[in-house]
Amino acid sequence: MSFSTSVLRPLILQVAEHPWSRRIVTGTRPGRAVASRFVAGESLEDAMRVAGTLDRNRITSMLDFLGENVRTEEQAEKARAAYLEALAAVERAEDLDCAISLKPTQLGLDVSFEACLANVEPILDAAKARGTAVMIDMESVGYVDPTLRVFHEAHARYPKVGIALQSYLRRTERDVQHLPPGCRVRLVKGAYLEPPEVVFTTKREVDASFARLFTTLFARGHPIDVATHDPRLLEGVRRRVDAAGEGWSRVEFQMLYGVRRDLQSRFAGQGYPVRVYIPYGTEWYPYLTRRLAERPANVWFFLSNLLRAR
Ligand code: FDA
Repeated sequence: MSFSTSVLRPLILQVAEHPWSRRIVTGTRPGRAVASRFVAGESLEDAMRVAGTLDRNRITSMLDFLGENVRTEEQAEKARAAYLEALAAVERAEDLDCAISLKPTQLGLDVSFEACLANVEPILDAAKARGTAVMIDMESVGYVDPTLRVFHEAHARYPKVGIALQSYLRRTERDVQHLPPGCRVRLVKGAYLEPPEVVFTTKREVDASFARLFTTLFARGHPIDVATHDPRLLEGVRRRVDAAGEGWSRVEFQMLYGVRRDLQSRFAGQGYPVRVYIPYGTEWYPYLTRRLAERPANVWFFLSNLLRAR
C-alpha cells in the first residue's frame, strides 16, 4: 500500500475539513494561486474562455459550476439558475461540444430528494431542448443511493444523462447491474474520504476494480467516459477499444482542468476523443482540497509558497 494513498490522502482530506484550513487557503494569495491551476476562474465567462481554447485544440469540454452540500432551497435555486445560464452560453457558442455536470447536493439533496429533483428537472429540460449532454457527479458514499435515484428519474426524462461511478467503492460492481440499459457512465476512481469498510484501500485494488468495471460496462454496451489521468489504465483502455474494432463512438477519455495537460494534448493529437472537466465559480475550496489530496506534491507546493509569502 503506498504511503501517499493510505496515509497522506486521508490526512490531507481530514485537515482540510477544519475551518482554519479553509481560511488559510481561501484567504491567502498562495492558496488562490494553487486554486487557479485547477479552477478555470470564478465566472461563467472564464469557463467559456477555457472551453473555447480547448475546442481549438480538438478537446471537448464539460462545465462544473462549483458548489456542494447546500443547506437551503434558495442556494439550490441559485445553482439551478447558474446551470441554466451555462446552458444558454453553450448554445450561444454554437458548434461548441460542451456538456454540463451536476452535483445533487448542490441542487438541494440535503434539503430533500424532492427539492433536488425540482431543481434538476428544469436543467434537464433546457439541456434536452438544446441536445446538450448532462452528467451527474457521484459524491461521498452516503449519497450514492439517493444520487442513483435522482439519476434514474433524470434518465427516464432525458436519455442523454449519464452517471459517475467510483471504482474505489466495493458496491459499484453491484450498482452496475441495476443501471438502465445503454446509459452513459463516467468511470472514476473516487475522490472522497470514506470508511475503509466500504472502499478498496490500496491503489492496486482500486485500479483493478476500475479495469474490471470498464470490462463489464463495455461488454454491456454502455457508452463510457474513462475519467482518469492514470497512464496505465488509459493505455489499457486504448488497447482494448482499438482491438475491439468498433471505433471510438462509445468511449471517450476525460480529464480534469489543470491535470496532466500533456496526456490531454497527446491523446487529442493522436485523434482520440478527449473531454476536459472545467470547474468554475467561487465555491472552489472543497474541490481544491480533493485535488490537493490526490497528489501531496500539490500541498508541498502550496505550503512552500505560503512560507515564502510570509
Ligand atoms: P491517480 O490518483 O492514481 O493519478 C494518476 C496520475 O494522474 C498521477 O500519478 C498524477 O500524475 C496525475 N494526477 C492525478 N490527480 C492529480 C492532481 N490532483 N494533481 C496533479 N496530478 C494529478 N471523483 C468522484 O468521486 N466523483 C466524480 O463525480 C468525479 N468526477 C470526475 C470527472 C472527471 C472528468 C475526472 C477526470 C475525475 C473525476 N473524479 C470524480 C475524480 C476521480 O475520482 C479521481 O479522484 C481523480 O481523477 C484522480 O485520480 P486518477 O484517476 O487520475 O488516478
